[in-house]
Amino acid sequence: MNAWAQFYTPQPAGHLLVNAMLTDQVQTVVDIGVGSGQLLRAAQARWQDARLFAADIDPQHIVAARTYFPKAVCLRLDALHVCLPTKLGLAEGQADVAVCNPPYLPARDIPGVYDILRAADLHDCISAKRITTDIVFIAQNLRLLRTGGELAVIVPDGLATHSHYADLRQALCERHGLYRVIQLPDRFFARTEARTHIFYLRKHAEPVSDIRLTGASPNGDLMEDVVIPAELARTRLDYSFHSVTDGSGASVVTLRDLGAEIVRGALTHKECVANNLYYFHTTDFKRFPNRLAVYPAAPSLPERWVAKQGDILLPRVGARCLHYAAKVRSGNPVLTDCVYRIRIESDWRKAVWKALSSVDGVLWRQHAAHGVCARTLGKEMLLDFPVPNLG
Ligand SMILES: C[S@@+](CC[C@H](N)C(=O)[O-])C[C@H]1O[C@@H](n2cnc3c(N)ncnc32)[C@H](O)[C@@H]1O
Repeated sequence: MNAWAQFYTPQPAGHLLVNAMLTDQVQTVVDIGVGSGQLLRAAQARWQDARLFAADIDPQHIVAARTYFPKAVCLRLDALHVCLPTKLGLAEGQADVAVCNPPYLPARDIPGVYDILRAADLHDCISAKRITTDIVFIAQNLRLLRTGGELAVIVPDGLATHSHYADLRQALCERHGLYRVIQLPDRFFARTEARTHIFYLRKHAEPVSDIRLTGASPNGDLMEDVVIPAELARTRLDYSFHSVTDGSGASVVTLRDLGAEIVRGALTHKECVANNLYYFHTTDFKRFPNRLAVYPAAPSLPERWVAKQGDILLPRVGARCLHYAAKVRSGNPVLTDCVYRIRIESDWRKAVWKALSSVDGVLWRQHAAHGVCARTLGKEMLLDFPVPNLG
């Protein structure tokens, strides 16, 4: 990733983002981190008479933006600066609409970052170590908007799905009327595998009771909405997850209900190699074509490190391996910290294995994983895995 996280929106996504916005009467549009102007171009096409304000830290983008948008205010600015509104020449609370595809970077040592978050009423829902530049950009956009003004912002998957951001999601719903999320197709942005979503917010608007989640296909077509109660925003806001788990009505129990014990391997891959252990890592799933792992016994190793006959093994983290599953047929593989072992009462073992390795089970695991590039399936989430109740 380059220092300014310069991944550009394809033009169809710019139109998709802008056309889904609700505001019709627009006098002022802002785009901070304008890049090569795809979002602003789509906004200009929709609201032809609006005044446009653009900022970017990269001087080349500002030279280009002045050519594309000759009537716009285009300034080279650090959008993370606490005085952004003044520097942009737009007082707080002036803009009708903001469009944004911010950089996703750690936001350490930004002077006055809590002043920025406080001005957007987001200071009490995020701990300092979790603040990233996209969150600061959201706050800056909210400062620039008038009450009721609308923001459409492209956010990384973690913001939509990770438990670290549950309070922030709740605050965006309750304080800034988050009403819709569109999930963009994976690998939509050139040079990155990032999964992203568009959040639609209205500054200080009344909270909605239901949130619309929509998936977008690679050619930009929108899929049928899934509507979730706003309280579920705390849990997660991704279309792919809610569209799979959405009310089938089938009788299910979860791994948690079944008392499954889920343990992640204790050693890193490097430690296993350095200690000459018989280990099982994510790359080993494909070594056992019938998905039955056969290993030597290792009775002297700590129980916490190893799996045993009957355990189910699943990848915990990876970019392309999350669909695998295996069972231990014999012996005691040492598990790396990228692998889970699931231990379950023998009565349920067959049903759990069948469910986890079924097409639906694989889809569930892939959708439940979170992360921008290498995706991680959290243990708490996995405990909610639904197993058809055949009893
Ligand atoms: C992910 S790109 C998106 C560009 C464009 N909005 C788009 O959708 O294609 C992020 C943009 O933010 C700019 N940027 C990064 N850090 C910035 C900062 N601190 N202040 C202003 N712009 C910044 C980058 O130069 C880049 O153009």
